[in-house]
Amino acid sequence: MSLHLGRNTFGNAANMGNLLSREEANKLFNDWVMNERLQLHMKQVAYLMKCWAAEKENADEQLQWKWELAGLLHDADWDQWPDLHCKKIIEELENRNVDPEVLHAIASHGHLHFGVEPVNNIDKMLYAFDELSGLIHAYSLMRPEAYAGMELKGVKKRLKEKSFAANVSREDINDACNRANILLDDLITFIIPRQATVV
Ligand SMILES: [Fe+2]
Repeated sequence: MSLHLGRNTFGNAANMGNLLSREEANKLFNDWVMNERLQLHMKQVAYLMKCWAAEKENADEQLQWKWELAGLLHDADWDQWPDLHCKKIIEELENRNVDPEVLHAIASHGHLHFGVEPVNNIDKMLYAFDELSGLIHAYSLMRPEAYAGMELKGVKKRLKEKSFAANVSREDINDACNRANILLDDLITFIIPRQATVV
């Protein structure tokens, strides 16, 4: 089964700057995503995106929300429509006239699956956070102290263990860091304390 989207342009340039309200986004999130683990993953990625925009991209509140929104909804269709993953949420957001850059970020969060290259910083960071956030969360679940006292070296050890969180693509993580021009260590260090606050 191919999840290739078969196109590289999304939405309409005239909709640049159009975002869902937080209420609209939360409603879509709650209506579409039932799986609690997936909900947490999407919230974690959303928060990391918001923090990155605020701290590294000098984004104002509106731009922070744009990044957060892309993170919050990037897997919205995975729960109920795995065969239409990415296609379904993109079409929904296109129908709601959402900013094409949000659509492009969602469309390129797994470029090997969807056939869309990450281009903008928002694309690259969503791609970079997605898998690594999952691995760090899996690590927190096996530690009695969860995130407390979690260190870079522990995460790197888990990354090297192929059998640990085996579904997390190490290849994607390395590829994402290269594309975003970020050191893996810096990304891990950014994620740990911020993700720890998302429950
Ligand atoms: Fe994801």
